[in-house]
Parts: sequence; C-alpha cells; structure tokens
Amino acid sequence: MSEIPQTVKILAIESSCDETAASVVENGRKVLSNVIASQIDVHTLYGGVVPEIASRKHLECVDQVITEALKQAGCTYGDLDAVAVTYGPGLVGALLVGVSEAKALAYSIDKPLIAVHHMEGHIAANYISRPDWEPPFLCLVVSGGHTELILVKDYGENVFLGGTRDDAAGEAFDKVARAIGLGYPGGPKISKAAEEGKCTIPFPRPCLEEEGFDFSFSGLKSAVLNYLNQQKMMDLPVSVPDVAASFQQAVVDVLVEKTMQAAGQFGIRKIALAGGVSANRALRNAVSESCRKNGYDLSVPELILCTDNAAMIGSAAYYLYRKKEFADLRLNALPGLTF
Ligand code: KG4
Ligand code: ZN
Repeated sequence: MSEIPQTVKILAIESSCDETAASVVENGRKVLSNVIASQIDVHTLYGGVVPEIASRKHLECVDQVITEALKQAGCTYGDLDAVAVTYGPGLVGALLVGVSEAKALAYSIDKPLIAVHHMEGHIAANYISRPDWEPPFLCLVVSGGHTELILVKDYGENVFLGGTRDDAAGEAFDKVARAIGLGYPGGPKISKAAEEGKCTIPFPRPCLEEEGFDFSFSGLKSAVLNYLNQQKMMDLPVSVPDVAASFQQAVVDVLVEKTMQAAGQFGIRKIALAGGVSANRALRNAVSESCRKNGYDLSVPELILCTDNAAMIGSAAYYLYRKKEFADLRLNALPGLTF
C-alpha cells in the first residue's frame, strides 16, 4: 500500500449505451468533473437506442467530452494517475469507442489502464454520494439492461443473489411507456404520468410468491398489453396516468419486497440503490419507508449519479487501482459481461 500516492486522480470514460461521459475523480470519492453528452434526442426519433447511431455519436464527441472533463477538473494529462474505462456490459460498438480511446490515452501518457465493469460503476455511485458508505451492503441494481440483487462483500467483491429472467425493470418501463403512447425514454415519462394517476388496475406482482431473489417483468408487461387490448375491444377508455401508476406500483412492490427479503435472509442492515431506475421517485420513497421501518441504513445516489455517468466509473476504478488491478493494451469490449 505504501506505493499508493496520497492523491490519486483518475480520468474515467463511459460509453456503454447512449451517453458519452468523462469524469475526473480523486481518491474514488471526490468528483472533480462529471461531463455527460446525452444522445437521447437523436434516439427519441426512433423510439429507442439505435446501436449503430450510438457508436457514431460516441466517436463524434468523445474527444470533446474528455477535454471538457479535464478543463472542469482543472487538470492536464500530466496530473492523472490512471485512465479508466467501462469495458462491459453494453453495446459492443459503443463500448469499443471508449475502450479504444482509453487505451490510446493510457499508452500516450504512460499511465495504467483500468477496466471497469459497468454495473460495478453503478454500485460505486454510492461511494460518491455517501462519503462514509463502505461494504458490506446489499445493492439493488436496476437499469435498462439489469435488475440484480448483489451482496457487496468488499470493494469489487460482489456476490450475485438473483436477477431478472427476462426483461430488466428499466426495459419494462420503456416498453410499457411505448405501449401507452408516452414514448422514449419510458422511465421518467411513466414516473411523471403516474404522479397524476391512481393504482386502480390490479396488475400482477411477478415472483413475489417464489423463494429466491429472481425477478421477471415480461409477464407484467404482457398484463399491461392485455389490459390495453381488452379496453380497446370493449370500447372502454384507458387512463394513461392510472395505467402508469398501477404498473409502476407493481414494479416497485416486487423490487422492494425482494430486497427486504434478501436483507433479512443475509442479515444485512445496509441497503443501496444503483442504476437508472433508482432515479424513480416512487421506488426511492418505498425503499426509504421500508428501511426506516426495519431500521436499515439506506444509500440512494443523487439523480445524476443514478443514470449512466463516468464519475461512478472513476470511483470503482480507484478501488481497482489500490489493488493494482490494471488492464493491458489487449483490453477488449465485453458486451455480455456478467458478475
Ligand atoms: O443505468 P441507465 O442510465 O442505463 C443502463 O445502464 O441501462 O438506466 C436507463 C434506464 C432506462 O430504462 C430508463 O427508462 C430508466 O433507467 N429510468 C427510469 C427513470 N429514469 C431512468 N425508470 C423509472 N423511473 C425513472 N425516473
Ligand atoms: Zn447503466
């Protein structure tokens, strides 16, 4: 450990989906800059992320995003101790842009390259928003591609307890939003519509009766589609806010209940949220209420750290840096990376 400098500044790059992001993070906890170029407007035209367009957009702006991140952090390349990058999971073409950029940079400034698992980045968002937050804890990771309960035993030591068998929670939000005409990105739109609605439709709570910590959301999505078809066939009106509120409540009930069951079974009294869906206000409120009742400590990252960003990658990278877990220039993008 004596060789670890007192101050470690890491430039992190994230390009796994539709956000090109770069950040400089000091000692894993202090964010010196957090620049995010979102492509949401262009993908909205197509109702979802178009992988080929995502890769091209990353290519177009990655250099500017990095330059801006360094400028905002008041750093030059010479001040950096390492370059970190998300290498999976995600869209292969999108990941490759970040990975190639990071390899070229690390090589040219002669600093270590650190390969970061995107989901480990989401978990690490909690180290930024809560400077006192340390493992062990239970983390509910809910994003567009993942719904997982992870037991974080130590930094980078993650035990997978359960995950979705089909659609991820965010994916279900996006698909249901499209079906009720709210468009892309579905999560924030459903969440907003739900504020005006009531939970009047009894959608199912998949997997709640089952043992274990797996999730399944495609049946719930089908239940919403069936409900919409039935109303149409019977010439009955559909209240978009009520569908949004009822669907959202079903997702939230399952996520919160399974998380609490896992905490009880593993005797863990610290719970963290991570991933884009943890920006959902109803989920945040429900988890917070359950944790209060059970006397659990809860960490919920601020909104900007929940959705994809590079600060979380810089935080996770610091703990790899401390263990000297460096990548070499053969690093490749791994779109299907799991825990
Ligand atoms: O973590 P993230 O930014 O990207 C992935 O790694 O997937 O998560 C994106 C997902 C999308 O499915 C989006 O609809 C969902 O997070 N999301 C939300 C909210 N904000 C974003 N879902 C529910 N409520 C929200 N407020
Ligand atoms: Zn993500």
